[in-house]
Amino acid sequence: MRRRTEKILGDVDAPVQTPDSQRTQFDAVVRKCVLDAGWAPFHFVRGIDDLAEPWRAHILWQDQAQALGKVLKHQHGDATKVPPLLCGCGAVVLVTWLPECDPLALQNGDCASIQKSAARDEEHLAATGAMVQNLLLLLTAAGMGTYWSSGGNLGKPVVFDLLGIPASERLIAAVFVDYADTQGEVTKKPGAHRDKRGSDWIREVSLQGD
Ligand SMILES: Cc1cc2nc3c(=O)[nH]c(=O)nc-3n(C[C@H](O)[C@H](O)[C@H](O)COP(=O)(O)O)c2cc1C
Repeated sequence: MRRRTEKILGDVDAPVQTPDSQRTQFDAVVRKCVLDAGWAPFHFVRGIDDLAEPWRAHILWQDQAQALGKVLKHQHGDATKVPPLLCGCGAVVLVTWLPECDPLALQNGDCASIQKSAARDEEHLAATGAMVQNLLLLLTAAGMGTYWSSGGNLGKPVVFDLLGIPASERLIAAVFVDYADTQGEVTKKPGAHRDKRGSDWIREVSLQGD
């Protein structure tokens, strides 16, 4: 399995630069991977904006990712790794999903309605996870480095407002995509739990009592 987390942290004030000709090619690959990732299965039609899928993909290309990184760091005082990640990537894909759980039903304690929408939400979220994993595998197969981050401040209302993402969506993944051959200083880090993997979680089951 070649897929692995590759975190690329750039310098917010001297972000990476991918030469234009390469950037155009890489952007086209990312666009295709996002489109193909959308072949993930989904159980329920979500039906928002006449779209069946329970997920949305918001792509920020390199210049927009870097602009957002600068705004977050210098105007919003974001001292987390998010601005450096935005300034080290070739593109970032913000994958959101659309929960059905109605805050009004929660307030009114409408249990039947809550249970039904919570069950559907589990499956919307599972489908969106499958879409994200598709994206990681497709990008990996195309030779690009990836990092699935839960997104930190990128999931906050202030960022959704800046990017015009509806408040009804919830961020499940900020997929940072590394473009090879970028110019500029970066720090690279692996996934924290990579070496903790094993196979003892696999169970071969049979009928009990036989
Ligand atoms: C839903 C989800 C959210 C994640 N969010 C983060 C995150 O916010 N920060 C982080 O360092 N890694 C995050 N990761 C990546 C994991 O840390 C990483 O997959 C793990 O360390 C194993 O490394 P590997 O992907 O190279 O096998 C996330 C992974 C998933 C599936």
